[in-house]
Amino acid sequence: MKVAICPGSFDPVTLGHLDIIERASGLFDKVVVAVLCNMDKKPSFSVEERISFLKETTAHLHNVEIDSFDGLLMDFAREKSAVAVVKGLRAVSDFEYEFQMSMINKKLCPEVETVYLNTSQEYMYLSSSVVKQIASFGGDIRNFVPEAIHSKIVDRLTNM
Ligand code: PNS
Repeated sequence: MKVAICPGSFDPVTLGHLDIIERASGLFDKVVVAVLCNMDKKPSFSVEERISFLKETTAHLHNVEIDSFDGLLMDFAREKSAVAVVKGLRAVSDFEYEFQMSMINKKLCPEVETVYLNTSQEYMYLSSSVVKQIASFGGDIRNFVPEAIHSKIVDRLTNM
């Protein structure tokens, strides 16, 4: 069974993340979405909230499982016997950082490949931080986050 990991902070999950998770689920036998616990920046949503948003919005994808990890991504990938890490690339500006990470991860764990999917055109500009900024100023984020969790995200971000 070919297992892939989709790692990220998911603070919160956006339609751009979901697009990558959905496409990865069509390419691999199983996809483990891995929510990073030890974030440098203080997250707006707890790990439990981020996991619950992801579970709710990926329930239709039967080969997708949601988990969390602390520490090194490659240790988690080994634990899950993953063959690949799948990441979305939005623009050239993402490339340098992602390239460095993939090189380091390859040294740490040569048996795991990093696979990049180009972000779909409609989500090129999207990030969790942009969503948080718009919501915190009362802007409409309906086009950026899944409908099922929209009100929970708005409630939190407008009351921070
Ligand atoms: O959504 P993000 O914040 O861009 O996700 C970044 C993530 C979780 C993929 C990255 O921070 C990560 O892999 N962290 C784990 C620490 C690690 O393994 N570092 C070594 C490789 S540079």
